[in-house]
Parts: sequence; structure tokens; C-alpha cells
Amino acid sequence: MSGEEDLHATRTVLFDGRYLTYGRKQGKITSLQLQQLQQRLPQLAPPAHWWAGRREGQGRLILEIGFGNGEFVAMLAQRYPQDRFIAVEVFFEGIQALVRRIDHHNLHNVAILSGHVYPLLAEQFPDHCIDWTLINFPDPWPRKRNHKRRLIQMDFLDLLAHKSHSGARLTLATDWEEYAEWMMQRLEAHPLWHNAVGSGQWACQPEQWLTTRFQGKGEAAGRSIHHLDFRRTDNSDIDVVETLHKE
Ligand SMILES: C[S@@+](CC[C@H](N)C(=O)[O-])C[C@H]1O[C@@H](n2cnc3c(N)ncnc32)[C@H](O)[C@@H]1O
Repeated sequence: MSGEEDLHATRTVLFDGRYLTYGRKQGKITSLQLQQLQQRLPQLAPPAHWWAGRREGQGRLILEIGFGNGEFVAMLAQRYPQDRFIAVEVFFEGIQALVRRIDHHNLHNVAILSGHVYPLLAEQFPDHCIDWTLINFPDPWPRKRNHKRRLIQMDFLDLLAHKSHSGARLTLATDWEEYAEWMMQRLEAHPLWHNAVGSGQWACQPEQWLTTRFQGKGEAAGRSIHHLDFRRTDNSDIDVVETLHKE
């Protein structure tokens, strides 16, 4: 493979053209930066033993989807050094920013997967392995015709439930009220997730919290923040549920 083809392959992996994301994602990428990332990302992939289930002394497996610049997952990883964090993002500059944080803070408990979360979850995560999923400020796709592009869809909640332990936590935050309602409706309707703070109730801001750049932007625009806190129900019908939701 020539150098140019190789770079193109990296670009394709990082910015999988099959999936649209909200706003400008690619930014400026120099060939050198791509090469550096190409070398670094395999070193930051989740180690094989993380998939082997929880071992003695090994902490929770925590997934952050759409980590932006990575400040939240880096904060949690320092706060909970026993836990294992898998951070998923499609945004090149964000991935670079988290790599820098990992190096700066010498974090050994953060792994990065680059790309769209749906195929990564489906193809790389064993069933029932996740203890906690965080989704902070997912792209709101405000126009009605784009609602189908929102991350929170019933089939995505099926897949995430399939990959989560029974009792696993799913926390979400958004500054987009209509998307908050959308999430609440779908999660409340889903048989494998239940609201940890009571049916139809919004959660309080968790104690271990950090205001990210996106939250700051939402607040500066006068939008209030909604938090959701759900648990994976203990339900053995999971294989049946997989086929229930096709939006
Ligand atoms: C509005 S930003 C929020 C970033 C961060 N969570 C924060 O609070 O600052 C949403 C992020 O999700 C990422 N994203 C969107 N769709 C994604 C997907 N399907 N898989 C992985 N990341 C995704 C975007 O690239 C973007 O960085």
C-alpha cells in the first residue's frame, strides 16, 4: 500500500463515510498528524483482558459515547483509577485531544475506539460487558427530517442493553429540551431500561460532574440541562427484544 493509500485508509477508518454526524467533524488534518494517530491508536485500543469479564480487583467497564475533547472521561479516569474506560468518538481533533490528556496525566485506564459507536458496539463489545454508559450532550439534530440521525433510537437502546450487564447504568445529559423528551419517551418505553429516579423523572446533576465545552455553550445560550439516569433491567428476554424495535 502506498503512503497516500495508507493515509486514505486511516481517514476512512476515522471518518467512516457511511455515517453522517452533526456539524463539521473532520477539521484540518495534516498527513503527519494522521500518521501519528495511526501509530498511536492501536496502542490505545482496549486490551484483550478487558473483554474477559470482571476479574478480582478489576473495576467497572465504563463507556463514554461521543467524548468530544475527552475532558469528562479523563476526569472520571483520574477519579476512579480502578475502573476501565472505553471512550468512543468520530471527531478527529477530539480524539487527538484525548490522546494528549492520556499522555499528560499518564492514564492507564482509558482506551479509545475511533468511529461510529453503533458498529463498534455491535462488532467489538462482548455481550453483557458494560457497567456504565455515559452519553453527554449527544448531537441534537434539531430538524425533524434529521431526527432519524439521532443516536438515541430504539434499536440503539436494544443494542446497548444487549452489551450491558443487568443493573448497568446509563446516564445521559442534554441541553436540548425536545431531545431530552425524546430520550425520556424512548427509554421509558423500552423494556430493558428503567428510570432509576422514578418514572418520568429527570435526574439531578451527578456529583462527579464537570462542565464540558458543549454544556458551557448550551448554558451560555440560556438552555437548561436535563439529566437522565437509567438502569438495565434484569430481563432474560433480551434475544427476543433485539427484534422488537425497528424505527
Ligand atoms: C455535542 S458533542 C458533545 C461532546 C462531549 N460529550 C461534551 O459534552 O462536550 C457530541 C459528540 O458526539 C460525537 N458523535 C456523534 N455521533 C457519534 C457516533 N455515532 N459515534 C461516536 N461519536 C459520535 C460527535 O463527534 C461529538 O464530538
